[in-house]
Amino acid sequence: MSSPQPRSRILGTGSYAPARVVHNTDLEKIVDTSDSWISERTGIRRRHIAAEGELTSDLAAAAGRSALDAAGLSAADLDMIIVGTISGDTPMPSCAVYVQQKLGAQEIPAFDISAACAGFVYGLTIADQFIANGVARHVLVIGVELLSRILNWKDRTTCVLFGDGAGAVVLGPASGDGRGIISTRIFSDGTLANSLVIPGGGTAEPLTPEGIEQSRNKVHMVGQDIFKVAVKNLSSASLIALDTAGMAAGDLDWVVAHQANLRIISQVAARLSLPLERFVLNIEEYGNTSSASIPIALDEAVRDGRIKSGQNVLFCALGAGISWGASVIRM
Ligand code: ACO
Repeated sequence: MSSPQPRSRILGTGSYAPARVVHNTDLEKIVDTSDSWISERTGIRRRHIAAEGELTSDLAAAAGRSALDAAGLSAADLDMIIVGTISGDTPMPSCAVYVQQKLGAQEIPAFDISAACAGFVYGLTIADQFIANGVARHVLVIGVELLSRILNWKDRTTCVLFGDGAGAVVLGPASGDGRGIISTRIFSDGTLANSLVIPGGGTAEPLTPEGIEQSRNKVHMVGQDIFKVAVKNLSSASLIALDTAGMAAGDLDWVVAHQANLRIISQVAARLSLPLERFVLNIEEYGNTSSASIPIALDEAVRDGRIKSGQNVLFCALGAGISWGASVIRM
């Protein structure tokens, strides 16, 4: 089966991680955990944590600048900015408008996507549509999180898992040589909304001093519920995206999966009958950076030469919502 012609392609990638690195052994000093528990259960050894005063939009703008440089473009060339994040600078306005301001972009649409760890794949899917229908030529898609400020640092079941960072791509029109986004599919299932949630601080539960005391404004997660559905849905979405692309898993050169847990990635690899060596892995260094994890891993693998022009790459991500998706790209 032949693949559909891509309508958009990745022109450049970029990423940014805060300088401060927190090791598992540092966390042993603040919660009842151990380096061995964290690394054996998740694959995480370190994570980068933003400095005081560093904002989500600072991380995002740094990644965005780097992607623009790689694409040989400037902010003036952009027609749209899409930011996947659930940890923006302020509840209102969007993180994207702060990024627009920091990049000095024109009066173009700039908006956020709230799909947690799937935010980047959602953003990519939306950008592809705008380029396909000719409304936009160059779209900056960023995945960024500053989760360290919305974690409960007394809850060992969540605080050891996450890190801060940003990754970005610039999408532009495909040039007819087969390179670009071949298929991209997104999904949500609201029945699991409460398995991964920040319960307080919205209109359902406005914040009170008691709510803050109980960390209702921080991330709450039923880890095992998410684990099971992650393995199942990442695998099924990947197979659907591959099928839409007219490909099989064996046609892939690389998989850049959301870096939430090495055990989840290993089980997805088994379900796709692919060796783990085919996966770009950096969870050891960054932990789970939610929507930033795929574009950071992609950028690293492009820059160090693992991912090469013309290779077939699969992205797959799942997070709060639950929301998930997968994309097949020829680089
Ligand atoms: N250190 C030491 N012990 C711990 C820790 C810790 N940091 N955290 C939990 N434990 C304990 C538990 O209390 C439990 O103890 P018990 O047996 O005495 O009750 C034991 O370890 C086992 O806990 P489980 O929750 O069963 O551990 P599991 O193997 O499921 O691993 C984890 C937990 C890592 C959270 C896993 O379930 C997971 O990765 N889930 C998916 C996370 C994910 O993908 N999230 C989605 C994206 S995030 C987003 O959208 C923002």
